[in-house]
Amino acid sequence: MYLAEVRRDYLTMDDLAIRGKTVLVRLDLNSPMDPSTGRILGEEKFWSHAETLKELEKARTVVLAHQSRPGKKDFTTMEPHAKMLRRIVRQKVTYVDDVFGSHAQKAIDEMKVGEMLLLENVRFYSEENMNRSPEEHAKTHLVKELAPHFDLFINDAFGSAHRSHASLVGFTEVLPSGAGKLMEKELDALNKVLVGADRPCIFVLGGTKVDDTLDIIKNVLSRGGADKILLTGVVANVFLAASGIDIGAPSLQYIEKEGYSDEIPKAKALLHKFGNKIDMPKDVALSQKGKRVEIAIGELPAKYPIWDIGLETIVAFYDEIEDAKIAILHGPAGVFEEENFALGTFEILEAVTESGFSIVGGGHTGAAVQKAGLERKIAHVSTGGSACINVLAGKELPGVEALKKAAKRFRK
Ligand code: 3PG
Repeated sequence: MYLAEVRRDYLTMDDLAIRGKTVLVRLDLNSPMDPSTGRILGEEKFWSHAETLKELEKARTVVLAHQSRPGKKDFTTMEPHAKMLRRIVRQKVTYVDDVFGSHAQKAIDEMKVGEMLLLENVRFYSEENMNRSPEEHAKTHLVKELAPHFDLFINDAFGSAHRSHASLVGFTEVLPSGAGKLMEKELDALNKVLVGADRPCIFVLGGTKVDDTLDIIKNVLSRGGADKILLTGVVANVFLAASGIDIGAPSLQYIEKEGYSDEIPKAKALLHKFGNKIDMPKDVALSQKGKRVEIAIGELPAKYPIWDIGLETIVAFYDEIEDAKIAILHGPAGVFEEENFALGTFEILEAVTESGFSIVGGGHTGAAVQKAGLERKIAHVSTGGSACINVLAGKELPGVEALKKAAKRFRK
C-alpha cells in the first residue's frame, strides 16, 4: 500500500503575483489531427486549460506547447492551435512561427498586458525531446534564449509531466515557477487515491503508446500496485506476439511501422516475470475491409488487421473489472472511431464505471468517454494518459519534481 507521490509542495498560481507580468506558460495542446486537412479533431485539451488562461488575462502570456512527435504524420506547426485557442480565450492569439529565435524574442518584447502569443511547436527544436536533467536542460538554447524575457514560468501541461523535456523542466531552474490550474486539479485528484488500499485494484491498459505502457506495467507490478493488468489495443497485440502467437502480417506490420518491434522482447520478459498478473485477449475482432470478423486467438494468424478485442474477451474482462474496488483505464481497446470496432472500448469503459472507484486517463480515451457519454459516471477523467497512470503506478513525474525544486528555491 502506498500513496501516490503527489503532495502540494509546489507553488500554484495563487502563490505568484501574476498581474502585469510577462508569463511563459507550458500547455499540453497535443490533440488528434487529420493529417490530410490539418484540422484539430478534439477540443478537450484546449478547454482543460481555460481556467489557467483566464487567470493569465492580467499578464502578457506566451504559450509554449507541442503537437505530436518527430516522425509522426501529425507532427505539425501550431498555427491551427492558435485559432483553436482564440475560441477558448475569446481574444486574439498571435501565432509566431519561431520557438526562441530573434523573431520570437522581438514578438515577446513588443507584447502589451492582456495579449497572448503562441510559439511554434517546441518539439521542432531537437534538444527539447531529450530526456535530460533540469540542470542540463537549463543550459539549452531554448531556456537560455527565452528565459530572460519572462518574469514567471507556469507549467499547466499535466499530460506531459512524465517527460523530462527542456520546456517542462528547464525553465523551473531559472524562473520563479508554479503549477497551472489544471496541473493543480489533476494532482489533487490523483493524490486522493490510495493505490492498493482498496483491493482488487485493476489496471486496464490499451491504446497505441506501447513503450510508455510497458514501463507502467513494469513499475506497477514491481511495486505490487495492481492485482491484475488487463491488456487491450495495440499493447495487447504486442504481448500476444511476445507470447509466441503469430498475430498476422497486417498487425505485425503496424507494430513495426510505429517503431515498437523492440518492445516485443521487453513484453516477453514481463510475461516471464509477472505472467500470472497479466491477462491478454482470448479473441479479437478483425477488420475485413471494414467488416467486423470475430476470431479466437487460437485461430490466428489472420490476413486482416486486429481492430478490437473480441466478444468473449469483453465478457471476461467486464466481469473482472466490475468486481474491482479500483479500476484504472488508459487507452482505447480498439479503433473506436469506427462504429464496427467501438464495442470493446465502450463496453470496457462501461465496466469501469461499475467498479468501486474509476479513473480514466489519456486524450484518446477521454474522447471515447465523451463519445460514450460516461463523463459523469467516472470518478476522475484525467487529461493525461501516461502522466496519470505513472502517478498511480507510484512513479515521480519529472515536470512536477521540477516545480517542487523551484518552490524550495523560491521559498528560501
Ligand atoms: C499526450 O497527449 O499524451 C501528451 O501530450 C504527451 O505526448 P507524448 O506522449 O508524445 O509525450
